[in-house]
Amino acid sequence: MSVPRPAAVIVLAAGEGTRMKSQTPKVLHEMCGRALVDHMLTAARDLGPERLIVVIGHASERVGAHLAETSPDAQAVVQREQRGTGHAVRTVLEELGTITGTVLVTYGDVPLLRTETLAELLAQHEAGGNAVTVLTAEVPDPTGYGRIIRDPGGAVLEIVEEKDASPEQRAIKEMNSGIYAFDGQLLADAVKRVSTDNAQGEEYLTDVLSILRADGHRVGACVAADFVEVEGVNDRVQLALARKVLNQRLLEGHMRAGVTIIDPASTWIDVGVRIEADAIVHPGTQLHGGTVIEAEAEVGPATTLTDTRVGPGAIVRNTVADGADVGPEVNVGPYAYLRPGTVIGRRSKVGTFVETKNTRIGERSKVPHLTYAGDATLGDDVNIGASTVFVNYDGVNKHHTTVRDGVFVGCDTMLVAPVTVNDGAYTAAGSVITDDVPPGAIGVARAKQRNIEKWVLRRRAGTKSAAAAEKALAEQEKQEKGT
Ligand code: UD1
Ligand code: CA
Repeated sequence: MSVPRPAAVIVLAAGEGTRMKSQTPKVLHEMCGRALVDHMLTAARDLGPERLIVVIGHASERVGAHLAETSPDAQAVVQREQRGTGHAVRTVLEELGTITGTVLVTYGDVPLLRTETLAELLAQHEAGGNAVTVLTAEVPDPTGYGRIIRDPGGAVLEIVEEKDASPEQRAIKEMNSGIYAFDGQLLADAVKRVSTDNAQGEEYLTDVLSILRADGHRVGACVAADFVEVEGVNDRVQLALARKVLNQRLLEGHMRAGVTIIDPASTWIDVGVRIEADAIVHPGTQLHGGTVIEAEAEVGPATTLTDTRVGPGAIVRNTVADGADVGPEVNVGPYAYLRPGTVIGRRSKVGTFVETKNTRIGERSKVPHLTYAGDATLGDDVNIGASTVFVNYDGVNKHHTTVRDGVFVGCDTMLVAPVTVNDGAYTAAGSVITDDVPPGAIGVARAKQRNIEKWVLRRRAGTKSAAAAEKALAEQEKQEKGT
């Protein structure tokens, strides 16, 4: 659809959102990896408006700071007192001056609204030569919304708020979404003439329709194909419902693009996640932030990845990862925890109950079981024995460990950083390695074993251990005599 670019989109977001019962302003509540207001701004931005304006008021410092960071192209206008939707628009036009061209007005708490629907509104506005076109929807339960009043011929007469409506008007199921396309100049004039003579004593933006109509201008309505899209979020129940709808939309997009999602009901994927074709996502998986899953990789079940890349053909099972880079054909988990700065090279393995942080692992290396690897560099073809700990913290500072190519670290080795195990070296199981190990050497750092004969018989007489030992020793004696 080719629609003319609007001169401006004004997003109203000054309200408090009391029903959220939250310290966080409503429009900053998160959904699928993006604040509510940012969902609206993304949809609006795709229309290519000349100006993007957000009206802020409640917690304006916090909301303003958020916008400055996430939407530097948007201009914030502060509405000090929230005296109604009409007052919000009037505040903008008084501060920025009249805007010539089409002005789209929408809300910061309508996160499911798609660009296509806004474009349809603009197209109908244009085609009808209207002064204002309101986006409406037929809803099963219109409670709380303004109702669209039409004449018998279907022409829009006015919008009546629920609190001002007669019982007959309340029975109308066509609701006002609160989203409109206006002729900017006519809007600037009409919004000054809105009264506060209504049940809430507010300046209603909805009154602009009847004002323009009385002036002899064309007033139109565009009925949204899907009412779910225009429903706002007012409390956390609606937030959860909206999140589910958006998540399902995102999952469908991925599935149609060639991604296998085994159980959409238990899979949550943020808007910023990229997944390549033939990747498989198992049940109970959450993919957050800028996570990227490359072709033929498999993630899940029960895996939560944030800002993590999973390379082609890699497998990541029952894992939590944040800021990790998992290379091609790598195998992670089950039960691994990859923390920021983890980089795993091609065909390597990070296995069960392994935690990594700020650690680079080369190619074909294995950290298969029960290991903490923090602040380390591992080369290629390294094998880390079970229960190895990279002792990176001395209580004050963090230190680095280097394990070069072809190293074999024995089970239960403590690598006390800073320390280097050089190419092809070994460490003996149970060693506490505090000094560098030269290439090809074995580092042994543990007490030599001594056995104290019959200690158990003397010191643990009468126990099951002593009985087992006595039996075995008697057997041994008998055999020795027999031979
Ligand atoms: C408004 C409409 C109603 C419509 C409904 C759709 C009016 C008079 N009524 O009602 O017909 O069905 O939206 O959701 O417009 N806001 C400001 N400044 C203000 C007041 C509101 O920025 O002074 C913002 C709010 O943050 C919110 C939006 O405008 O995002 C709507 O405000 P709200 O008070 O929720 O309007 P409703 O009474 O729901
Ligand atoms: Ca509302």
